Amino acid sequence: MNAAKQVNGLLESVETCSTDELRALQLQRLRWSLNHAYKNVPFYRASFDAAGVHPSELARLEDLARFPFTLKSDLRDNYPFGMVATPMEDVVRIHASSGTTGRPTVVTYTRNDIDVWANLVARSMRAAGVTSRDIVQVSYGYGLFTGGLGAHYGAERLGCAVIPMSGGQTEKQVQLIRDFQPTVIMVTPSYMLNIADEFERQGLDPRKSSLRVGIFGAEPWTNAMREEIEERMGLDAVDIYGLSEVMGPGVAQECLETKDGPTIWEDFFYPEIIDPDTGEVLPDGEEGELVFTSLVKEAFPIIRYRSRDLSRLLPGTARTMRRMDRITGRSDDMLIIRGVNVFPSQVEERICAHGKLAPHYQLEVSREGNVDSLAVRVEPQPSLGQLTEAERKALGQELAHSIKSYVGITAAIEIVNVGGVERSQGKAKRVVDLRPKG
Ligand code: DLL
Repeated sequence: MNAAKQVNGLLESVETCSTDELRALQLQRLRWSLNHAYKNVPFYRASFDAAGVHPSELARLEDLARFPFTLKSDLRDNYPFGMVATPMEDVVRIHASSGTTGRPTVVTYTRNDIDVWANLVARSMRAAGVTSRDIVQVSYGYGLFTGGLGAHYGAERLGCAVIPMSGGQTEKQVQLIRDFQPTVIMVTPSYMLNIADEFERQGLDPRKSSLRVGIFGAEPWTNAMREEIEERMGLDAVDIYGLSEVMGPGVAQECLETKDGPTIWEDFFYPEIIDPDTGEVLPDGEEGELVFTSLVKEAFPIIRYRSRDLSRLLPGTARTMRRMDRITGRSDDMLIIRGVNVFPSQVEERICAHGKLAPHYQLEVSREGNVDSLAVRVEPQPSLGQLTEAERKALGQELAHSIKSYVGITAAIEIVNVGGVERSQGKAKRVVDLRPKG
């Protein structure tokens, strides 16, 4: 099939092949990837040897469970290029994710890796209903972050006209949408809301913009947030998932026709769900931590990478490949407040369900003595205008009640002015943890 046809409507044959065919392809590629990592990355050789396993022992896909995990700290320990499996002269791109502490994690790509990535983002965009006739505004950050360039190469591969806007400069985002009339936007969901606010601040109706599809990811967001964005922007909002250690955006993509969670591009990444405490592989359908193994990556093969993202594997619907459930949160984002596990996404659902609150929010955890407490700062919908003290109090009590009933925790609510919660230009910071470290 010629490339132009492939990216303009027709699916690649692997997207609809039989499960047996897919598993056979995965097994063949997995063998290659394990061998490649073992032969060319001293870290993998040492970790496989220490676990007493050899790539030649992989007879079935399930045998992967015998191989050791790779952690973010392993990448940090091998900073910057210790995990690169090819000569540096074959590397054509370097990305890095900053993280909050310590050294960044560094990832590298050969020309083939960049080519595969562009194809997978193009495949993802096609699943989102995008074609070469679309104009795409890329508002993920360009730079070391994989979002901007990852989206950019995919959109170009699909044949779209790309506006490489990057994150930030919110007024200009609106101006370009008005002037260039993009039909698709790729941006974090939290920043989409900021752009929507800017439309309204300028007295414009965001529903009347040229945008018809939004491809949102890079941070957790709920179905309630999807409805909020679709309603405010008048577009179809779909979920794109990825992580730099595994590639970047385009590891998984939600299909427009089903909107039932991202399809994992399993011909390139083998997913597992594990119990985060025991490391045991869990059956499909059970919630746990997502673990990924790359099947064709050259410069940076990654074997059983523990993502810390909590989800479930679900059967394929629009494609042969399995889907992942929307990410509930990262295990490192889970708060334990007086014994109750809480994710920011649960609070987000309550905020969206309220009707008079905007999903601009931040959770603050503090400790008095030995007791943790949770405060939630949230903005009202701008359409409510200036609120009286009594109105604020009433809104706060309603949200506190809803969080108590649905999430099971007591939270102190502060209804701040519109604009009172720090705005993100990329990934939103949802949790401020004031508890003493250590
Ligand atoms: O965020 C890659 C990306 C860019 C994905 C643009 C989608 C769109 P990192 O900066 O390495 O890479 O962060 C990866 O972000 O482990 C998740 O915790 C979170 N994440 C990414 N996509 C989603 C999503 C990019 N759709 C980390 N839903 C991942 C929830 C997401 N969380």
